[in-house]
Amino acid sequence: MSCPAELPIGVFDSGVGGISVLAEMLRVLPDERFIYFGDCANAPYGSKSTECVRSLALQAAQFLLDRGVKCLVVACNTATSAAITVLRATLHIPVVGMEPALKPAVEMCRPGAVLVLATPLTLREEKFWSLVNRLSAAAEIEPVSCPGLVELIESGLTEGDEVRQYLSGRLSPLAGRRLAAVVLGCTHYVFVRRELASILGGEVPIVDGNAGTVRHLRNVLRESGLLRVCNDAAGRAQSEAVHSFLDNRVTWYTSGDADSFAALASQLLRKAMGAGQ
Ligand code: DGL
Repeated sequence: MSCPAELPIGVFDSGVGGISVLAEMLRVLPDERFIYFGDCANAPYGSKSTECVRSLALQAAQFLLDRGVKCLVVACNTATSAAITVLRATLHIPVVGMEPALKPAVEMCRPGAVLVLATPLTLREEKFWSLVNRLSAAAEIEPVSCPGLVELIESGLTEGDEVRQYLSGRLSPLAGRRLAAVVLGCTHYVFVRRELASILGGEVPIVDGNAGTVRHLRNVLRESGLLRVCNDAAGRAQSEAVHSFLDNRVTWYTSGDADSFAALASQLLRKAMGAGQ
């Protein structure tokens, strides 16, 4: 049996959104390999019930466990809200989840409202409201539910009129309000950051939780002796060779259509790596 640190990291999302987190993991954890599962047949999670998403998350986790992963990254805010407690109680490996990056947004101390864009389910869950309660004394926090946005992104739309119109529609009730920051509380939304920035006019910081999550993941791996480090020159050279073909460090699976997933996943991974997100 191989040393546990040599095993890959399992990552899942309802679809392609978790690729924005994967891109950060590929950058920050250069010696790690990954198995990514996009549950596209069941996307979106955000319009389903908590119980349904909990059951889908357990199935996705089992799928990855069966492929021999050393830890699990729930690269989905919605699945984290609904299922992180049961996943941690059930699995015998470390489990890292997502949280809307409200704290870093509030700590910017800019005047105005902090908007949190997220799925309907994330915004209904207790986990979100306990975060809001912890921070609401320091800032005016405004949740903005975005039903339908995950579907647009899953269909391959991250730019253009339809995305712009959608985002403008969600933000129009807030016209005239001073905005301190906008938090992307869904891993899919990172892919529409450019359109959002053009609507907001470049003045308002747009914050996501990916860097914070991956920093936390690295600490968890280090503390549990699971961080993979190539010390030897041969290992490093091989690792660097692999880095130039980033997809080679990732094994991909989907519950949806394999061809359309592969096309969209590679397009979005390149976009996320190129954009430095
Ligand atoms: N990427 C998921 C998230 O972070 C999207 C959830 C969905 O499928 O609605 O919330």
